[in-house]
Amino acid sequence: MKFNPFEEKPKSLESCIMDWKKLSPKSYKKLESSPYTRVRCILMNGTEYESVWFGHQFHRHTSDNDLRRSLALIRRSEQQQQKLISGLKPLDENLLETTIGYEQLAVDLTAFLAQHVSDKHVKAALDFALLEDFDHLYRYANLLESDMGAKAEDYVGDYTEIMPARPTIAHHRHPFDSVKKPIKNKDATPFDKCAVSIITAAEQQTMNYYMNLGGFYKNQKGREVYTEIAMVEEQHVSQYGSLIDPTASWFEMSLMHEYIECYLYYSMLCDESEPSVKKVWEMLLGQEIAHLHAAAKNLEKYEKKEWREVIPNGDFPELVSFKSNKDYIRNIIKNTVNFTADRESYTDLKKLPKDADFFKYQNKIIKNENEVASHKVVQEHIDRFGEDYRVQDKPHPIKSLDNRKVDNTSVGRKQ
Ligand SMILES: [Fe+2]
Ligand SMILES: [Fe+2]
Ligand SMILES: [Fe+2]
Ligand SMILES: [Fe+2]
Repeated sequence: MKFNPFEEKPKSLESCIMDWKKLSPKSYKKLESSPYTRVRCILMNGTEYESVWFGHQFHRHTSDNDLRRSLALIRRSEQQQQKLISGLKPLDENLLETTIGYEQLAVDLTAFLAQHVSDKHVKAALDFALLEDFDHLYRYANLLESDMGAKAEDYVGDYTEIMPARPTIAHHRHPFDSVKKPIKNKDATPFDKCAVSIITAAEQQTMNYYMNLGGFYKNQKGREVYTEIAMVEEQHVSQYGSLIDPTASWFEMSLMHEYIECYLYYSMLCDESEPSVKKVWEMLLGQEIAHLHAAAKNLEKYEKKEWREVIPNGDFPELVSFKSNKDYIRNIIKNTVNFTADRESYTDLKKLPKDADFFKYQNKIIKNENEVASHKVVQEHIDRFGEDYRVQDKPHPIKSLDNRKVDNTSVGRKQ
């Protein structure tokens, strides 16, 4: 089914402003709604956050107050949308429970995108970080059982396995190794252009969530896990952000943001199983169509460009949808668990020169591996319960990661 938001009749921007009652929606249910409803809410929260912040940056880079008023009106609407989406989280879902959803989003969104992009460098970046967020999910799941007696499988459902991948201790790399080559919008497929921005906003949401809330975790052990994983999310945001074409103008980027919001709300609408949440996606799609047309007008007015010069075909590419990716993930683990980043590419650790920045950075940041929080959290779980927490359908694809009584700290890290 084709959908082109440029062909839709937009409502007025003023009519997008919602009253307080609308900003207090009915939440999904923590353990009864589909895990992917939580995941969709986190994705759209991150998308709105990106829109709001992009809007602020744009307005700080222009002196034209007519333009700044136009941006202010759209931005107010984005901010309201973000508040509305925040309200979809149930009151009884706590910091760590939501975190499980953040990492499930990172896993299943990344795996979906990796299977649909055309650019092999973009795919390599997705596959690379996929294994890291997959491992984060496992670390937080161990914290969840240790601190709350709760089982992460009740939150992620049967969609996502929970087991180690490239261990988090191996994710700490030199900042130079997060900078990749950007795509070129004129050559990239419509799906790839959307994918790099979508995943950047999603990882940025995770980075911000851990930045702001990690310090509120109820004990020291958990706080340290958040600190450590937050630093890895910074790497992910740097990596993905570096893939976006940096040559687009502010107006072109603004149009792209609104187009992606339309595309994602339409995707969520088609994917959603929770009727009340589905209504929210439908309403916000209507608002985004208004934003998109306003952004197209600004592009025309200030740069004398038509939207077609930025988005040649307005029809949405294949929609984003959430489904289980277990076999795909197992395969990536099997083939690339030992990879690390090496400047613009990725390489097997065995091929990395001894004086590589990776080893220098690792030696700087890890003085004693028994003090590294992501390792400690699993080790303490093993000490207390006799084994780690994991949910595996069959033996682990990597033999040295199959032992539930030992937390491996050398895969992807030691030659
Ligand atoms: Fe928005
Ligand atoms: Fe993560
Ligand atoms: Fe991540
Ligand atoms: Fe928007």
